[in-house]
Parts: sequence; C-alpha cells; structure tokens
Amino acid sequence: MAVDPKAMAARNVRAYPLVSFLTVVSGRSVAAASAPVNAGAPRGESMGKHQRLINSAQVRPSSEIPAHSEAAPGQRVVFLDDRILPEASFYTAARVVRDLDGAPRGVDLHRHTCDTTYMILGDHPDLTGLTVEIVLEAERYEVASPASVFIPKGFPHSANCLRGSGKLINIVPSARYNAAFAP
Ligand SMILES: [Fe+2]
Repeated sequence: MAVDPKAMAARNVRAYPLVSFLTVVSGRSVAAASAPVNAGAPRGESMGKHQRLINSAQVRPSSEIPAHSEAAPGQRVVFLDDRILPEASFYTAARVVRDLDGAPRGVDLHRHTCDTTYMILGDHPDLTGLTVEIVLEAERYEVASPASVFIPKGFPHSANCLRGSGKLINIVPSARYNAAFAP
C-alpha cells in the first residue's frame, strides 16, 4: 500500500499536538538516599500538569535486592518503581557496565512470581558490544548483544555482565522488585 508522506505527517501532528509546545524537563529527584544519574542543572523549564510522570533515574545498591550483591560490576540504575512513582505498576532498571573482561558474578540463581525480561544493549551503534552470562535452570549461556531473554514466572535464572560495555535492562511487572521475588 502506498504511503502518502503528507498524510503521515498530518497524522503525526494530530497524534502529538503538545510536543512542540512543552519543553521536556529533566526528571525530578525523589529519593534522598540515592544520587540521580542526571543530576545537575535542569535542561528545560518545569511545566505541564503531567510532569510528575517524569522522574530522574536513581543509582541504588544491588544489595537491597535478594540474590544480588555488590560484587556485580557497574552501577544499578533504577528508572521506575513505586518508590519513584507511587502508582507505578512495574519496575525497570539497568546495570551499566564499561570495559569488562571477565567480571566477577554478583547475581545468584533466583526466581520471580511473574514473567520478567532482560534486554541486553551494547554501547556500539548497532547495540553490539556486551556479553552477558545467562543461567537458566542448570544451563549456562553467553549471550551477545543485542538480545532479549524471557524469564517465565518461577523459572530459576541469573544474569551477570561478563565482557564489554553497555546496559543490561531488567523489566519486572511488579510495583517493586522485591515484591516479585520468589523464595
Ligand atoms: Fe531476576
């Protein structure tokens, strides 16, 4: 089917009428216990009744979640949970690593009360550049980015960044990570 660029543009303008009027703000910091990653001068004006939905990411210790320790390389950065936004219904976080070459493991086998997923993103333009060790039950995999891993509810797993630079994203459909942890 032929696509009319003018019609497409018109649809886009109608779909996003406010984008050209609102200056997107850097997120507000809500947790005194952690330093926002993008701390510093705001990049824009604070405006708009929905600003509360936009929040700075927070660096938090790995040790606040079970089966995770500070031995894991890099920074754990939480983007969303109910500590950041009370009505949040899921958790998103990234482990940010650089220049790994056989890193120590900081995550042990564990399980969740819901399906979860990992996204493995390397720092290269094509998202290559990061290798993560994924253990699923008794099987060990070395997964090269870009890749995803689907973890079914109740499935024993671990994820440890091994080599390269990039981000390991974790998405857990629970308002708080620990609430979805299965003993
Ligand atoms: Fe997990």
